[in-house]
Amino acid sequence: MAEKKPVKICETILRDAHQSLIATRMPTDLMLPILERMDKVGYHSVECWGGATFDACLRFLKEDPWQRLRLIRDGLPNTKLQMLFRGQNILGYRHYADDVVEDFVEKSIANGIDIIRIFDCLNDLRNLKAAVDATIKIKNREGRGHAQIALSYTLGDAYTLDYWMNMAKQIEEMGADSICIKDMAGLLLPYKAYELVSAMKSATSLPIDLHSHYTSGVAGMTYLKAVEAGCDIIDTAMSPLSMGTSQPATEVMVETFKGTDYDTGLDQNILAQIADYFAPYREECLKSGLLNPKVMGVNIKTLLYQVPGGMLSNMVSQLKEQNAEDRYNDVLNEIPKVRKDMGEPPLVTPSSQIVGTQAVFNVLMGERYKMATDQTKDLLRGKYGQTVKPMNPEVIEKVIPGEERITCRPADLIPNELAKIEADMKEYKQQDEDVLSYALFPQVATDFFKYRQAQQEKVDVTKADTTNNAYPA
Ligand code: CO
Repeated sequence: MAEKKPVKICETILRDAHQSLIATRMPTDLMLPILERMDKVGYHSVECWGGATFDACLRFLKEDPWQRLRLIRDGLPNTKLQMLFRGQNILGYRHYADDVVEDFVEKSIANGIDIIRIFDCLNDLRNLKAAVDATIKIKNREGRGHAQIALSYTLGDAYTLDYWMNMAKQIEEMGADSICIKDMAGLLLPYKAYELVSAMKSATSLPIDLHSHYTSGVAGMTYLKAVEAGCDIIDTAMSPLSMGTSQPATEVMVETFKGTDYDTGLDQNILAQIADYFAPYREECLKSGLLNPKVMGVNIKTLLYQVPGGMLSNMVSQLKEQNAEDRYNDVLNEIPKVRKDMGEPPLVTPSSQIVGTQAVFNVLMGERYKMATDQTKDLLRGKYGQTVKPMNPEVIEKVIPGEERITCRPADLIPNELAKIEADMKEYKQQDEDVLSYALFPQVATDFFKYRQAQQEKVDVTKADTTNNAYPA
């Protein structure tokens, strides 16, 4: 090792760690007192927004996610803030028009985000373009904003080293600032990571960030080999909310590289103070049941079946509902077949649910594709975008016979909609950002707006009739 190459750390405790372990329930009040300490660490970035945090704020915590972002921005003046952004879905569950995507990027950066990690469940780069272009535009205008494109990591015939290298080149051509390998299921093995990162490094000069989960027990080793292959940034979580379905522990990775050319330079004493702060919260979550010890262990099935853990547990509950738990192995065998029929997509939200549910249907109905979900139909129609391999023409003919399929970028068919959305919700609007909250989660945002209004009018919300969503005026 000739030159020093400190590994950079993206800290996830304010986003993915609590999303993965405690259903995204960490409230803003718990975050604020420790921000001053966290700002002294020298993290490459702190991931603190996007993903499920937005929905969880509005729905369960009755918090304004934009206010959370502004408070974290104030508390971390010297640290880059990072968010997760699901391409044309933004943080919601459908494709949005470009004007909504652009406005969301604009407001995210205006309220404090520096790095936007953008991904698509099919790795269809066309679904990332609007968000990436919007970020680049702001960067050119204001000198702030970093577009990171994340590739959903998966296994399968289509996903050769050539595939990943070719994707890396395309990402560089799109003008992105960095690339993330997003291993949401913890499938990436240490030596495979070495090969993958080496190959991608040979194809691009962009920094590479590795994001994995400890689900299958290998992520710490995977990070080590990835760093040896030249990986620039790793995503870790402070120990109290690390491992299990979360990320490897920050302190452990920092200590692993200490004294080597990859030394992060981070101060274990400051990290220890942060860990001490979060430790009682972990205990509290264990006691209340919010943190289930089940998610803390090693789920070896993930590696055996190459299927995300969450998808397996969904499948079990679907089979249980139908009193068909004895068909578990049949469904496990059916999953790779359905995935092939659908063009071998990565298995991440929402493609994981679509493939998993269809596999259950195919087994229980006794005839493949006798019944198909609306989501299966939309995927076959091309409404989610293009898959890496062609879909099975016989399945297309059986499920959506005679229908014309979409081959363009799906959002090209969605006219601008921001003005209409604003008109629909203007009675609740207190800030421009409210329009975007409503665009993503119309019902949940409306409930939140009503709650907020009741609070402002100093109404006793405990007397509110929440079942009927009526608050005393
Ligand atoms: Co993740």
